[in-house]
Amino acid sequence: MGVGSSLGQRVLTNQDLEKMVDTSDQWIRERTGILTRYILEQGEATSDLATRAALKALEHCGKAPEDLDLILVATATPDMIFPATSCMVQRNLGAHGAAAFDILAGCSGFVYGIATAASFVEARMYENVLVIGSDALSRITDYEDRATCVLFGDGAGAAVVSPAQGDEGILASCLGADGHGASVLCLPAGGSLMPASAETVAGRQHFLKMDGKRVFEFAVKVMGKASRLVLEKAGLDIEDVSLFIPHQANIRIIEAARKRFRVPMERMALNLDRYGNMSTASIPVALDEAARSGRLKVGDVVLMVAFGAGLTWGASVVRWGEIAQGGGQNG
Ligand code: UT7
Repeated sequence: MGVGSSLGQRVLTNQDLEKMVDTSDQWIRERTGILTRYILEQGEATSDLATRAALKALEHCGKAPEDLDLILVATATPDMIFPATSCMVQRNLGAHGAAAFDILAGCSGFVYGIATAASFVEARMYENVLVIGSDALSRITDYEDRATCVLFGDGAGAAVVSPAQGDEGILASCLGADGHGASVLCLPAGGSLMPASAETVAGRQHFLKMDGKRVFEFAVKVMGKASRLVLEKAGLDIEDVSLFIPHQANIRIIEAARKRFRVPMERMALNLDRYGNMSTASIPVALDEAARSGRLKVGDVVLMVAFGAGLTWGASVVRWGEIAQGGGQNG
């Protein structure tokens, strides 16, 4: 599995936010664990973040854009409502032979993408599937709403999924959704239900709306459930996991999940403090950092677990393999 990532270029600190809304560095640190986040430059889009991450992932595993059979972009902030952002990425990469579609599963999108890619590869329909989690939540964040604007950052992470060799690769995934929670985290206007109008703009309905407490409760519950389910499916125990990569939304959610499973801190991947909540990008950016820093060794078991708008949840277990420069590796 080749991996790569990219971030928004402009840093936004807690001190910057103190000047924008009625908040404090102390509140943000204590209630969320976030210190900084990176924001995409004006004029750029989610597909630009995605393309940069994809190029790094391709280079990492020694593959070319022409090798790709399918491109999946998981995002809640597409360049446009349609066409799919994955088609922009296909164009940017020059991946002429690849099919492309987007996945909309909130912050669980990258895990949904990994499960989808594994299914296509296992079914032998495709050999090389590029999965990208890319989001520019700054574009739909209301910087007058202190309850949400302190949380989000922009970034992308990518992985190239190909047929596995030996016992390496994607071992198991499980996905879930509960549409009864659809209004808990949403962007109300601009779709078919509430088309854009002067009223929707005046009412700030084109910004993300969230009931933070409801999401928090859901997250703590499903992170444990999803982790247990996916480990059972893979025939593994919690002790077999070398690295946990939880969705990076709030340090208190991660702590609650960690305590429940009695996982030592050194086995948790964290980037929330530096990047904030990057939605679909949080997990693949952490995966890329762990792979490139040497934290991940061949044979290590990685558990990725996410939750998000929908409401959705998902978990995947991967056994890390050699990066095959120029050859197929890792389902
Ligand atoms: O990727 C998935 C998407 N999102 C999430 O996973 C988010 C999950 N939820 C959370 O992370 C937390 O619920 C938040 C960080 C969003 C909020 O933390 P909380 O501990 O649930 O705070 P709260 O909403 O209960 O608010 C507590 C107080 C309120 O003041 P009062 O009513 O007690 O006087 C808020 O108005 O904190 C106030 N508050 C703030 N104060 C300073 C809310 N936001 C801020 C802020 N700065 N930025």
